[in-house]
Amino acid sequence: MSFPSRVRIVEVGPRDGLQNEPQTVPVEVKVTLIEMLADAGLAAIEAGAFVSPEWVPQMAASGEVYTRIDKRPGVSYPMLVPNLKGLELALAAGVREIALFAAATETFSQKNTNCSIAQSIERFATVIDAAQAEDLRIRGYISCVLGCPYEGEVSLETVAMLARELFDRGCYEVSLGDTIGVGTPGKARAMIERLAQDSPVEKLAAHFHDTYGQALANLHAVLQCGVAVVDSSVAGLGGCPYAKGATGNVATEDVVYMLDGMGIETGVDLDKLLAAGRYISDFLGREPVSRAATALWRKRAG
Ligand code: HMG
Ligand code: MG
Repeated sequence: MSFPSRVRIVEVGPRDGLQNEPQTVPVEVKVTLIEMLADAGLAAIEAGAFVSPEWVPQMAASGEVYTRIDKRPGVSYPMLVPNLKGLELALAAGVREIALFAAATETFSQKNTNCSIAQSIERFATVIDAAQAEDLRIRGYISCVLGCPYEGEVSLETVAMLARELFDRGCYEVSLGDTIGVGTPGKARAMIERLAQDSPVEKLAAHFHDTYGQALANLHAVLQCGVAVVDSSVAGLGGCPYAKGATGNVATEDVVYMLDGMGIETGVDLDKLLAAGRYISDFLGREPVSRAATALWRKRAG
């Protein structure tokens, strides 16, 4: 199969990235970051999570972040929601799009959401019904699709079953999380080929963490299988608080650099994206975790 002519990038740095930072990032810094990302042309920016503040303190002020961002027409700002309580908080903040999440192994499901896989299906079904009654757009996530930090190998049948559940109940897209970045291109391709047997491949998104440096190679592989949506994180921010050692998502700068080079449209302005990555990296007091960003900044410095 050939490559898509256009890829939709879902920027997850303000949520997946900042949820894992040891230091608290103030609301105004998050708001500025999100607005810089929208300026750069990103049309989907995951802005926060209505999860338990006991579990993930870094996302505690997500309602305030959401209400303060200057929402641009044509840009969606999905918010992560784990249960009805999260949905209630999202609705109170005026959220129009939510993202639900489930995991492909029992242990990760327990560690991340305190419930079994079967209970997570019941839970997201209830949230989907309530969210549909409010006309919200709903995105779904599956974690650990290429490996689990607790159980190792993951059953592709469980991943496929969860994808079907999420689609059948009304998710417009299902994002496949290589939460700990252990996948390699052949495995990533085999996963998409299996899912494509009973799920719409054009509605699958690749959400690859770059822990083992495989994310771009894995993306290159799945883009040839009909996937045209990529989740990434500016400056490579991120990780998962319940997957020890998991580093950030693939960096948005690296994805845009690769796709620009391949002549695949993204609508993202790399210069403005670099500025957003620099802004948050300066705040965190470190360099962006992106080879492309590092090289481009060095080149500019002469
Ligand atoms: P629980 O402790 O079983 O919750 O946690 P509970 O229903 O028993 O409630 C306990 C207390 O929490 C109650 O308060 C609730 O009101 C409160 P109390 O009565 O004791 O005062 N509570 C909440 N507060 C705020 N927001 C809520 C909420 N729900 C309950 N939504 C729960 C269950 C699901 C809440 C918890 O496990 C949780 O929040 N988990 C989320 C963990 C998380 O955010 N992980 C990272 C995101 S997922 C990810 O990164 C993977 C992804 O990127 C894809 C990939 O890479 O694989 C998406
Ligand atoms: Mg993630």
